[in-house]
Amino acid sequence: MLTQEQNDRLCRIGPGTPMGALFRRFWLPICTADKVREPGGRPRPERLLGENLVVFRTTKGTLCVLDEFCIHRSASLALGRVEEDGIRCLYHGWKFGLDGSVLEMMNVPRDKRIPRLEAPSYPVVESGGIVWTYLGPKEHQPAFSPFAYMALPEENQVVVRVDTNANWVQHLEGGLDESHVSILHTNAARPGWAGGDGQVGALDDTRPNFEIEDTEFGYHYASFRQENERTNVRVCSFIMPSGRIIPGGALQGANNATIVFEIPIDDEHTATYSVRYGSRPITRESRLRETGYDNPTLYAPEQQRFLFSRRDFHLQDRASMDRNWSGFRGISTEDAVIAISMGPIPDRTKEHLISSDVAVVRMRRRLLDAADAVEAGRDLKSARADRGCIGAVDAAAPAGDGHWRSLVPSHAVE
Ligand code: FES
Ligand SMILES: [Fe+2]
Repeated sequence: MLTQEQNDRLCRIGPGTPMGALFRRFWLPICTADKVREPGGRPRPERLLGENLVVFRTTKGTLCVLDEFCIHRSASLALGRVEEDGIRCLYHGWKFGLDGSVLEMMNVPRDKRIPRLEAPSYPVVESGGIVWTYLGPKEHQPAFSPFAYMALPEENQVVVRVDTNANWVQHLEGGLDESHVSILHTNAARPGWAGGDGQVGALDDTRPNFEIEDTEFGYHYASFRQENERTNVRVCSFIMPSGRIIPGGALQGANNATIVFEIPIDDEHTATYSVRYGSRPITRESRLRETGYDNPTLYAPEQQRFLFSRRDFHLQDRASMDRNWSGFRGISTEDAVIAISMGPIPDRTKEHLISSDVAVVRMRRRLLDAADAVEAGRDLKSARADRGCIGAVDAAAPAGDGHWRSLVPSHAVE
């Protein structure tokens, strides 16, 4: 349970908030790379942490992120004319360079001095099918640390973005909550439940035990399930401020993993970027099928958002529920529906946590402590932690207390 004050501190990320200041110490996804591939193509208006930004690629091919609204009189630069070395506002023709400096003002009278002005601009990195930016103070900007998947061939990674009307924390909590995997995702995890055949690894066990440990990048935790005489362990990683890696394991193949970033658009909207990657090529079609996003009544691929709401019962198919646990198809659809079902921000003063919520509780504590550290002006180790070493594993549990750690030897323990 959290107090109302703690819940607000945890969830709200706009400019001037403590959690907003924490997020502004990290590189964050702003859009998928395929949306800004074409030089001189349509600029994209994007909201990130409650701020309106524009992302575009100049006709020469350079990516740029600026504040969306023109510093003259607020026309959207997403309507602007993209040029070789910047973007020109349609309204009065002010031209902004890559660093935001105003290069030209078309409406200054001939006899007047041209003022020197600059629009806010942000650094950009394109990596792993995602465009990343950093909105924080220059003096705290960490070097961009690539995740391991970014070194894989492009055909071995599929990035999908989904925007939903829900705060980022409830999405992240779902992603770190291992006990729901065998229950919400019953049809994938326990196909035998409705008289069908087969068991999928140890996921038949709905009562895992947990061990958890802080790391430099956030934490990792192990969930143990019994499968006959054998103990299975799934090790998942929480990556500050809102990332996670989940092993593919029995559900998605031993050589696969999914990395997910829950990125706040604002306090009540989230862009979820999930990257499925592995040792073999993966097609977008198979990934969309697996997630359930191949259903055009649920997901609009062009707009990268869900189409349903609480008012239409999330399009749940109740007639199918004698053989389909959730009435939904696809693991990610089930996850997203649950997060959206809570409303924009859940009232955490009313919850009743149990020991299975250990990863949720730890995540909140790590984030609130880190927000305190930022507020106190302390250095934030997690913002500079190496991301290339972070992984996730689904395997037979090594015998011995705490020996699961040997499965992730590259994780630096705090
Ligand atoms: S509002 Fe952009 S140039 Fe005037
Ligand atoms: Fe899930």
